[in-house]
Amino acid sequence: MERSRSIDDLRNAARRRLPRSVFDFIDGGAEDEATLLGNRAAYRRHSFLPKTLADVAAPDLSTTILGRPAALPLIAGPTGASGFLWPRGDLAIAAAAHDLGIPFALSTSASVSIEDIAARASGAIWFQCYIFKQRDFSDGLIARAAKAGYDGLVITVDFPVGGNRERDFRNDFSIPFKYTARNVTDFALHPRWALSMVRGGTPQLENLRGFSASNDVGTVASSVGRNYDASFSWDDLSRIRDAWPRKLIVKGIARPEEAERLVALGCDAVVVSNHGGRQLDGAVATLDALPAVARAVAGRAEVFVDGGIRRGSDMVKALALGANAVLVGRATLFGTAAGGQDGAARALSILRDEFRRCMQLCGTARVSEIGRDLLVPTDVP
Ligand code: FNR
Repeated sequence: MERSRSIDDLRNAARRRLPRSVFDFIDGGAEDEATLLGNRAAYRRHSFLPKTLADVAAPDLSTTILGRPAALPLIAGPTGASGFLWPRGDLAIAAAAHDLGIPFALSTSASVSIEDIAARASGAIWFQCYIFKQRDFSDGLIARAAKAGYDGLVITVDFPVGGNRERDFRNDFSIPFKYTARNVTDFALHPRWALSMVRGGTPQLENLRGFSASNDVGTVASSVGRNYDASFSWDDLSRIRDAWPRKLIVKGIARPEEAERLVALGCDAVVVSNHGGRQLDGAVATLDALPAVARAVAGRAEVFVDGGIRRGSDMVKALALGANAVLVGRATLFGTAAGGQDGAARALSILRDEFRRCMQLCGTARVSEIGRDLLVPTDVP
């Protein structure tokens, strides 16, 4: 793992180990992937105006996230299907996040159960819930998370219907796997991955056991999101707020007036997110949407952002533009795919070390010193 010096190195290692269809599933976005690329490009349109002669010998990276101390302003975001990269991949990411001292969010589509993660957690855990047409199923998941002691509930709102992820269609990618001649060849050409899947046992979407509306609840591509409830709206969210006893985080917004309404509804945090470019292609880059949302929230709740974070310097830019913390999805997935828990830990420690160095080079000794004055807009041809 030490040979991987950047998230991009881990991405390359993931690409080598994974079958093409599995790699494309995590790496890809919707349609023309304009938003996927746009999320990254937005970071290049801001340059640092560094401060100097500030004592940065011992920078303090720590912060609080939703009232709990965190080693740095970073959250391991919810990502389904991590178990298809590495056996019990969700546990690998959770353990790496907690070893580093940051929160971990478990996806609805995880391959480890709500209770299993809670039993092994050594830090803050959040449960991310999708809302199914079969509402009592979602209610049941939320009740399980409450009972298991999760600190936060993440409701993802940018997924009324599945995004059109063409790489998955082209690759015939689905969960459970479809064993077409091309896929079998693809799997056979990646024996290290194939062997680990055989040894680890076929991963299941553990939290969706017992789901009765359709037995293909988890299939990606042709039916992604088919069982999700596109009628989910503000009143439903309000009911969840009333029922959930701890922190409520709403993930997947871009509009300031919605952030305002979420604060009024009693949300503890909003996540400016477009699902990493996997849903609405053409959606605004999250970094571009962040400042207006942060202004609207005005400190009454926490503001997080995700999408395209691959460097510690991206974290500094996000904080400078108003985020309290950032989430990562693919960074830890690339790490997990490359080397399980060691790989996930490597991804997080790369981001931590880059974040520390960037803070020092910007002349900021504390997270609270990272402000808008650190950035100037840059024209990128
Ligand atoms: C995701 N994401 C996601 N979000 C969510 O709320 N529930 C989920 O189950 C998943 N699953 C998922 C799987 C995979 C393979 C990816 C890549 C992403 C979205 C995720 O939480 C986050 O919003 C993005 O990944 C952020 O963008 P980056 O960091 O991947 O660029």
